[in-house]
Amino acid sequence: MREVPDFPLPGVVFRDLTPVLADPDALRAVVDALQDKIDDSTQVIAAIESRGFLLGAALGYGWRYGVVPLRKPGKLPVVADSVSYDLEYGTASLELPADAIQPGQRVVVVDDVLATGGTAEAACTLVERAGGIVTGVSVVLEIAALGGRSRLAGREVSALLAV
Ligand code: PRP
Ligand code: MG
Repeated sequence: MREVPDFPLPGVVFRDLTPVLADPDALRAVVDALQDKIDDSTQVIAAIESRGFLLGAALGYGWRYGVVPLRKPGKLPVVADSVSYDLEYGTASLELPADAIQPGQRVVVVDDVLATGGTAEAACTLVERAGGIVTGVSVVLEIAALGGRSRLAGREVSALLAV
């Protein structure tokens, strides 16, 4: 991963997965490793915009999960639910598309990075309010010092690496 100091704001080190995704062997290794940690009962990937989309689509195609994009505001034509949250920098919200998650479906949340956990917590809330069951939160990188894991109490969190 590339580390970009002072992006998107001064003092924030942005962990950029782009070089990993651009390498065919690295992409495959990362997606395979994510799959290894996903609970067998999982039916659906809830993929967080934006790099979570790339990982989630690869997992869904490779291992036959449905993929539901959790999107930033204003992108979805029909919104089922919305959750706002605090970021390491500023605030944001995520939206769940209509008719995407059925009650009782078993759903893993996928993203590139777990930092403060606000994004993943919002994703879990969207899934659970729709009646889905979160089987886990899977990320490539966990920034442990920011304590995201503690905001996800009760959910299984797996990270391929932690800094
Ligand atoms: C980054 C990262 C995670 C989120 C983690 O996304 O890709 O989604 O922050 O931060 P948190 O655990 O503190 O919530 P960002 O919001 O920068 O948007 P992007 O994925 O579209 O680049
Ligand atoms: Mg993101």
